[in-house]
Amino acid sequence: MSWEALAEHQKTIADSHMRDWFAADKQRFSQFSLQIDDIFLDYSRNRITEKTMQLLCEFADQQQLSQRINAFFGGEAVNTTEKRPALHTALRASKHTVVKDEISKERARLYEFVTQVQQGKYKHIVNVGIGGSYLGPLLTTHALKEFAISPLQFHFISCVDKMALDEVLTQIDPETTLFIISSKSFTTAETLLNTETLIRWMSEKLGKKAIAHFVAVTAKPEKARALSIPSERIFPVWDWVGGRYSIWSAIGLPLMLMIGSKNFDAFLAGAQAMDEHFCHADFNKNMPVIMALLGIWYINFFDAKAQVIAPYSQRLRYLIPYLQQADMESNGKSVNHQNEQLSYHTAPVIFGEAGCNAQHTYHQHLHQGTQLIPVDFIFVKNKQRNEHDDMLFASALSQAQALMHGMAHDQAYRELSGNRPSNIILLNQLTPHSLGALLALYEHKIFVQGVLWNVNSFDQWGVELGKQLLPEILQQLNGTISGDASVAGLVKEYRK
Ligand code: F6P
Repeated sequence: MSWEALAEHQKTIADSHMRDWFAADKQRFSQFSLQIDDIFLDYSRNRITEKTMQLLCEFADQQQLSQRINAFFGGEAVNTTEKRPALHTALRASKHTVVKDEISKERARLYEFVTQVQQGKYKHIVNVGIGGSYLGPLLTTHALKEFAISPLQFHFISCVDKMALDEVLTQIDPETTLFIISSKSFTTAETLLNTETLIRWMSEKLGKKAIAHFVAVTAKPEKARALSIPSERIFPVWDWVGGRYSIWSAIGLPLMLMIGSKNFDAFLAGAQAMDEHFCHADFNKNMPVIMALLGIWYINFFDAKAQVIAPYSQRLRYLIPYLQQADMESNGKSVNHQNEQLSYHTAPVIFGEAGCNAQHTYHQHLHQGTQLIPVDFIFVKNKQRNEHDDMLFASALSQAQALMHGMAHDQAYRELSGNRPSNIILLNQLTPHSLGALLALYEHKIFVQGVLWNVNSFDQWGVELGKQLLPEILQQLNGTISGDASVAGLVKEYRK
């Protein structure tokens, strides 16, 4: 019902221009903006009226969003295909949850380990992992460098490209390096091959002492023990924590080592503040819900297929791959919970670039291309403003204005129609607290969209299939060639 009402409403506003709405309504900015804790969201540059938001919220009600939020936080098996809950929010909850005791026990053990490492001989930390076991640590250790309380240097090995691994090895000293092998499943081929190579390299340098330089974060401790990593150096990531939502667990160990346990607690508290807001605010004042509804509005009613993430902050440059995984791995689905084919589009293609660089690469397409691509501009305020901050902020705002305003036909050789939507997200400083809140904001946006599209946001069968095919093809590179003509032909080419 609301879906049809939204489609009808879209027709009535499709020809209206945002610049006319701004000219006619001085309240538009205050009406379509809100502040939650450290985060300010301006969503006034969207193709929406009050009626649009009302209909979108009705649609959310109709899809029983409140009940689904309660089920999610309450630990129901929202991951329907794998029949388990998605309880990453419990990792930052101060209230009692079914898994509270396990979390407290393991966090105490982790924090003790963090102190030991910070006081010990280590100078280099190498995180070995991929996907969710890599992108969260990468993003957060870059974003929160100013909060480092230890001089440790952080390195990341994710893909199997030997050049990337060798590059890290040239920068470290075996005696003072700690390797964190992060893999929830401990079956991910890239991580296992990199680990084997690193153990071999370390053994050549340090002999039997080598294995003492390895710790593991995994849901399969027995597999880590099989590599001789002792139990006291294995930290859990539970089944109920999805890889792409795991930065709040022991997967966040690199961040804990860098900023210390107090700051890590602040990171968790920032996320928890967003959780509280998400659980209790009315939909029309609920930041993750509003952002999710805007996404649905464009994808399903304006045929948008992509979404730009534009952090005008170098510190947040790895937010882009982080959100690519979070969003596309969660909602890149074409069947619903009942395993029926969907008749509508789901997750957008997420892309982006930090700072003004994108203005000189793909922004032309955003301004004048044939597709409508909404943008999230993210800007971090700096207490001691300087001319670079001013230019950076002015750049983001002028891009948002140009996208919205466009240029009338008689002013431009080729028409710049404008009317292109964007959000502006302002962070009051980049801190562990505000970063935690920002990541939780996007997590919940993605969750809401999954609910409204009726897809399971917590499985990833497509990726699993790729993981299964890899060993078969790998075997063919040195063994009997089988498979279809394309595989056989390419394997022959490769072996030549
Ligand atoms: O990319 C697919 C995936 O399964 C992700 O969900 C996960 O974050 C990544 O692989 C790494 O998995 P693991 O932590 O089990 O090595």
